[in-house]
Amino acid sequence: MYSQIYGGAPTILSLVLLISAAGVSSALPENPVSRSTLPSGSGSGQINSNSVLVALLDSHYTELAELVEKALLLQTLEDAVGRHNVTIFAPRNEALERDLDPEFKRFLLEPRNLKSLQTLILFHVIPTRIGSDSWPTSEPARHRTLAADPLHLSGSREAKRVDLAAVVHPDSVVRPDGVIHGIERLLVPRSVQEDFNRRRSLASISAILPTGAPEVDPRTHRLKKPAPPAPAGSPPALPIYDAMAPGPSLAPAPAPGPGSGKHWFDGESQVKDFIQTLLLYGGYNELADILVNLTSLATEMGRLVSEGYVLTVLAPNDDAMAKLTADQLSEPGAPEQIVYYHLVPEYQTEESMYNAVRRFGKVRYDTLRLPHKVVAREADGSVKFGQGEGSAYLFDPDIYTDGRISVQGIDAVLFPPEEETPAAVAPTAARKTVKAAKPRRGKLLELGCQMLGAFGQRAHFTTCQ
Ligand SMILES: *[C@@H]1O[C@H](CO)[C@@H](O)[C@H](O)[C@H]1NC(C)=O
Ligand SMILES: *[C@@H]1O[C@H](CO)[C@@H](O)[C@H](O)[C@H]1NC(C)=O
Repeated sequence: MYSQIYGGAPTILSLVLLISAAGVSSALPENPVSRSTLPSGSGSGQINSNSVLVALLDSHYTELAELVEKALLLQTLEDAVGRHNVTIFAPRNEALERDLDPEFKRFLLEPRNLKSLQTLILFHVIPTRIGSDSWPTSEPARHRTLAADPLHLSGSREAKRVDLAAVVHPDSVVRPDGVIHGIERLLVPRSVQEDFNRRRSLASISAILPTGAPEVDPRTHRLKKPAPPAPAGSPPALPIYDAMAPGPSLAPAPAPGPGSGKHWFDGESQVKDFIQTLLLYGGYNELADILVNLTSLATEMGRLVSEGYVLTVLAPNDDAMAKLTADQLSEPGAPEQIVYYHLVPEYQTEESMYNAVRRFGKVRYDTLRLPHKVVAREADGSVKFGQGEGSAYLFDPDIYTDGRISVQGIDAVLFPPEEETPAAVAPTAARKTVKAAKPRRGKLLELGCQMLGAFGQRAHFTTCQ
């Protein structure tokens, strides 16, 4: 059954990638094809003075206007408004000054990253007019942008959103050929976020200076001294299990003490990036919620990455999470145990895993849930984890990859073989399914909070109050 549903997934995916790649290039000015396919009359260098584009350059969105010029996009946008109406989402000036990560801003303004800057700006332009009167009210609407990635418009009459940004000034500028809405923050397309992550991890890896050799204290299993000369980016001397928080605990992981070694990477911000990427990607809100709000796993992952460990997250999507039963979640520490079984202490990408299962048939990956391993094999041109009823396909490959953290979306929650049995044997009707209907964000969290409440631990989590 699976083979029929998912067998074609990689092919469709590569097709989508091809199409979106084509979308980017045709939107960029240096592409000769987009030039030659312009209808005659556009791109003539003439623009109406009451054009929305002129208004943008004159508006109080001076930071965005400046970026548009720096990105050398005036001609492209001029051509766009010559052909159709546009909707421009203009971040407040503060969003591009004070609120923007200075490192990210520097990245955008480097000449070699011009493409990223252009993609970022074109991501704020929809090639059609969407005034606040035609804003979607019931279902969120997906709109093509001048960049490859789409935007999602949602909200009500009072509170409109575009992706994660609140619309703070709807219809800020209205002109015959378009409309500008003021938004609270910059919209960052996934491809640009990824370029930035890649660039930054390369920078941080090459910035590492070799330090001293690792000497393990046999009593504490901690390093006695800072590590010895090691190749930049090489893994820490101790196995990852020694660096993990003691036991699955519901308490926040201890802050790294002076004995926990040198911080090689800014793991916290890498984890923050990957969680943000998960949220932007969509369909993985439950996992993000568990990592951040229900447990302290995001903190712990950040600490491990800071210490030089690498992680691959097999991320069950929201549909998979919705199938978890109350029984499966009712043990204390169950959310942690479930997530630990989805964390592989290696850096694996879709390609590396697929190559491995193709070459070896069956591959076992360690997980942070000792001593359990997760088995992977090739199936239907993809990678399939686990066995029997509890198996999951690699569904959304390489959602996030930055050289230290890799996130691979899967379509079921995995359990170690021993524990799968009771659930699999029990008649389906007897299971307390959390909710069969449409998965909704935060359901798992609510359930988790209820259980924490039952254990008297609710107070640890502000989100449970
Ligand atoms: C933009 O929309 C207006 C009506 O809202 C229409 O009259 C005009 O022709 C459109 N412009 C272009 C270039 O399509
Ligand atoms: C954590 O909870 C807060 C408050 O409910 C919510 O705004 C936030 O999006 C949650 N974080 C994640 C990663 O889901």
